[in-house]
Amino acid sequence: MDVSRLVTDRARAVDASGIRRIFQLGAQIENPINLSIGQPDFPVPEPIKRAAIEAIEADHNGYTPTQGIAPLRDKLTQWLTLDLGWSFGGPGDPEVLVTSGTSGALYLAFLALLGPGDEAIIPDPYFVMYPHIATMCGAKAVKCDTYPDFRMTAERVEPLITERTKLVLYNAPSNPAGVVGSKDECRELLELCRRKGVLLISDEIYDEFTFDDFEDDAAAGDPSRARCPSPARFEGAQNDVLVIRGFGKTYGVTGWRMGYAAGPAELMGHIGKFQQYTYVCAPSMAQHGCIAAMNVDMGPIVAQYKQRRDALVEALSQWTEVAVPGGAFYLFPRVPEGMTGTQFVEDAIARKLLVIPGGIFSDRDTHFRLSFASSPETIERGIDVLGQMYSGV
Ligand SMILES: Cc1ncc(COP(=O)(O)O)c(C=O)c1O
Repeated sequence: MDVSRLVTDRARAVDASGIRRIFQLGAQIENPINLSIGQPDFPVPEPIKRAAIEAIEADHNGYTPTQGIAPLRDKLTQWLTLDLGWSFGGPGDPEVLVTSGTSGALYLAFLALLGPGDEAIIPDPYFVMYPHIATMCGAKAVKCDTYPDFRMTAERVEPLITERTKLVLYNAPSNPAGVVGSKDECRELLELCRRKGVLLISDEIYDEFTFDDFEDDAAAGDPSRARCPSPARFEGAQNDVLVIRGFGKTYGVTGWRMGYAAGPAELMGHIGKFQQYTYVCAPSMAQHGCIAAMNVDMGPIVAQYKQRRDALVEALSQWTEVAVPGGAFYLFPRVPEGMTGTQFVEDAIARKLLVIPGGIFSDRDTHFRLSFASSPETIERGIDVLGQMYSGV
């Protein structure tokens, strides 16, 4: 059968992730210096694995409620109350939904908010999925250029808002730059979205990987944890912000496909409906594992990642322009003058170093993404190669 005659323009408009191509290339290189991976390299903490295994053994293998199992939702609402100062359970209060990955939450939120011709403002550079899920909804992703500091400020967003704008997507710590916006920037963005009547979605998947203390007030919950400023942490934000977070990166369980979304009850009702008719529910044993995960202190791991960040920033800033990542596990340095990101990465790959060209995340191809979710030895090898590349050796 000629299937190509049947597929939609929508399907044709979305191309496969360029990152996968780098992974395929990497698979052909012997002993590569792989700094391309977007998932943590630490082993999943034992109590998390045990909880999932025990859930399977205790026959928790069936469908769960679409919203997620009650003990996990309770833990999430307690945490969001502490962390964001939100209230749950009363009339008009927000609701929380356990989702199939952070991606599941993002996609269903877009589906609930965007129709043909609508616009979603996303940062540029962006997480690769954002423009495509807008396309899948028949909508348009409007890119907000955040170079060179990668901050999505109200000043940069405001000129892009039109009558068709339905949502602004904020992501901090960001992928691919790891950049964390300030509290004031979050407040200004929230105020702008309120003024214009558009929804602010805050993708906080890397929030536990925050290296510096950006939040100093009591509303930030446990004062021993460095927190990333969030537009959801302001008075009344529970009515105006959709917060999307995940478990995969934080606890090293990306394959479990676990995330959650919390926001205005009416919107959550629509997202929940879509979940019911698509993913049905998040994986049952993984939900049990994630209850245990929420009791695990990831502080020591985050401290190790911070050391890696410091070593890389110190090395790279001798050679090029690099925005200091306040969180996540990526850096987004500029490639040498006169070269594209793609050319730089081709050269890197010839030297066994796997990194991702900036053009995969952006309309510009002037940078590259490096992930430090790799062993310190691999990072050391990577720094050596980068040193040679920047000094033209
Ligand atoms: C910014 C950002 N949001 C969302 C996701 C999707 O995460 P998940 O694996 O939980 O679907 C990723 C994954 O890389 C990401 O970097």
